[in-house]
Amino acid sequence: GNGTAKPGKSRNIVEKLEQSDKNCVVFYGSQTGTAEDYASRLAKEGHSRFGLNTMVADLEEYDFDNLDQFPEDKLAVFVLATYGEGEPTDNAVEFYEFLSGDDVTFSEGTSAAEKPLSNLKYVAFGLGNNTYEHYNSMVRNVDKFLTKFGARRLGAAGEGDDGAGTMEEDFLAWKEPMWAEVCEKMGLEEREAVYEPVFEITEKADMDAEEDEVYLGEPNKNHLEGSQKGPFNANNPFIAPIAESKELFTAKDRNCLHMEIDVSGSNLSYTTGDHIAIWPTNPGKEVDRFLSILGIASKRHTVIAVKGLDPTAKVPFPSPTTYDAAIRYHMEICAPVSRQFVSTLAPFAPSEEVKAEMVKIGGDKDYFHEKVIDRNLNLAQLLEILSNGEPWSKVPFSLVIEGLVKIQPRYYSISSSSLVQKDKISITAVVESIAKPNSPHVLKGVTTNYLLALKQKQHGDPEPDPHGLNYALTGPRNKYDGVHVPIHVRHSNFKLPSDPTKPIIMVGPGTGVAPFRAFVQERAALARAGQPVGKTVLFFGCRRKEEDFLYENEWQTYEKDLGENFILHVAFSRDGPKKVYVQHKIEEYAEELDKLLQQKAYFYVCGDAANMAREVNALLAQIISKQRGVPESKAEEIVKAMRASNQYQEDVWS
Ligand code: FAD
Ligand code: 2AM
Repeated sequence: GNGTAKPGKSRNIVEKLEQSDKNCVVFYGSQTGTAEDYASRLAKEGHSRFGLNTMVADLEEYDFDNLDQFPEDKLAVFVLATYGEGEPTDNAVEFYEFLSGDDVTFSEGTSAAEKPLSNLKYVAFGLGNNTYEHYNSMVRNVDKFLTKFGARRLGAAGEGDDGAGTMEEDFLAWKEPMWAEVCEKMGLEEREAVYEPVFEITEKADMDAEEDEVYLGEPNKNHLEGSQKGPFNANNPFIAPIAESKELFTAKDRNCLHMEIDVSGSNLSYTTGDHIAIWPTNPGKEVDRFLSILGIASKRHTVIAVKGLDPTAKVPFPSPTTYDAAIRYHMEICAPVSRQFVSTLAPFAPSEEVKAEMVKIGGDKDYFHEKVIDRNLNLAQLLEILSNGEPWSKVPFSLVIEGLVKIQPRYYSISSSSLVQKDKISITAVVESIAKPNSPHVLKGVTTNYLLALKQKQHGDPEPDPHGLNYALTGPRNKYDGVHVPIHVRHSNFKLPSDPTKPIIMVGPGTGVAPFRAFVQERAALARAGQPVGKTVLFFGCRRKEEDFLYENEWQTYEKDLGENFILHVAFSRDGPKKVYVQHKIEEYAEELDKLLQQKAYFYVCGDAANMAREVNALLAQIISKQRGVPESKAEEIVKAMRASNQYQEDVWS
């Protein structure tokens, strides 16, 4: 299709390569930005080390029926994340649908059997998570299709595993032998890597950040002009008023937020079970640290124009802007540092000693772990520690833009029912704050602490910001009066049965309860309106009854509407002498549960992907085996079939 093409922009990659004099395209299918980051790192490296003329390309922006025209002397690289239940990322859906189609035909009209892609040389790396069932299925399937059509892969198809926490190392280990084979097959030789900036940064002494048209956090032109215009989506957030915010925990040192976000007038719609994306702002404390260590704190408000030195290089934020705004609103500065970026920055260290240490950290996996990962350091914290606070003034700002990931919106499972409140989306988010024994810094989740700050502002809390995070809450993203947050909606397949009389079983410990609060809210409303509603069983787990029992009072109201059709089982893990988890409660309820499943009850799991969701899956197979007297292997097949038919649905994250 050509739905996303900008006018005048070619969707023909072969043409694009010719026009821009490139011989290598690095395509990415990315959801959270990591695949995009790896793609741009490969493109940079291909150029600086091997002299390839590379470009990075968003899969969404090209057509693929002319891949059979791909010139033999060029190279295509695919960096592909797998999302959710083995799905392509949003930007790779069309690409995947094309390749996996029943009757794929290329521009010459050749069919698959005629090996239409025999000219295409490619390289592939996948990003996946082994805690999900369809591990790296995207790269595996694309590789399979490309091979089927006659394309020739260079090197192994790499697979990175986020579940094991080895993504970065998997990537680094994969790429060296891959480059060796690319060099051999394309007759390239490694050269002394030279840094060539991708972007040109011009300081505009004649412009004033406040007076002139300068982006200070506005995501696009409409916002800059002070009026937001739809359609609102992943490229254009709606800056939504926060109608209501409150804390759900009574514990002092832990926070969990319930927020009601007003989407009226935006044309944004959702259905129960969808996700909302929140566009975060970086905390001022980390923005300050970052500006200081780069030695640009004094000119933070200087206006800069940023442009790609090459027509294929995309500036990842609107320009003109300021150093401050680019960092605060557009760069993921709080995230873990990549080992490769440490090596890349080494030549720009403020002294030979510091440079040597950077080379050592970048070159040694274990040492990197000890010095960076175990201490949870972000980039500025690392640079600060290594140079003892001396500024790294030699680091080109282009390199900062190239090396850091674009800040990503975070997803939240909507905890309200669209039937009950179609214009108000609620979220249930636990505020991330992790102290680690080896780190001088407490890890503060960027988005959730931003939301907490907004809540504190809305309530005029007497002692906000005890950690001095210093979020900018009155900036350009908030110029629409009151307390606002930029958002968009992402539709999901996590859905209630369309027939409300069908029984449902929900498992959601912690914030995993979010979508189930929506499910129960919806069914209670239906019951109130006199509709018959089926059994609605919820397993919830938390630490202590008095501390983090989310929506305790609300469940009682829903019980009034739903009567004995609503059954709530709560596991308190820290109230008694032994841990009690939702799994224990499910086991106690095994007989009844299996009966409901045989009546085609829908089974839902939400929350922690790493442990809980897997354990519940295994437990369900055990229960089915025992209750129905079938072997475990047969029970596992039954569970798989339930998943395949959507009777078993997951909404999980790690
Ligand atoms: P981030 O800044 O993204 O940090 C998150 C974690 O990353 C940290 O705790 C830490 O473990 C690690 N980290 C960050 N920086 C470093 C560093 N320098 N070194 C080492 N490690 C680091 N959450 C909810 O609370 N409720 C929901 O309903 C919900 N639904 C979700 C639905 C989906 C589909 C998905 C994908 C996720 C969902 N989440 C939900 C999780 C949510 O999207 C966020 O991941 C979460 O709130 C943390 O975001 P943050 O920006 O506050 O933290
Ligand atoms: P814990 O922190 O006391 O171990 C919400 O986070 C609840 O889920 C908490 O009560 C937590 O218990 C519990 N929990 C932790 N790990 C779990 C797992 N693997 N399965 C189910 N519940 C778990």
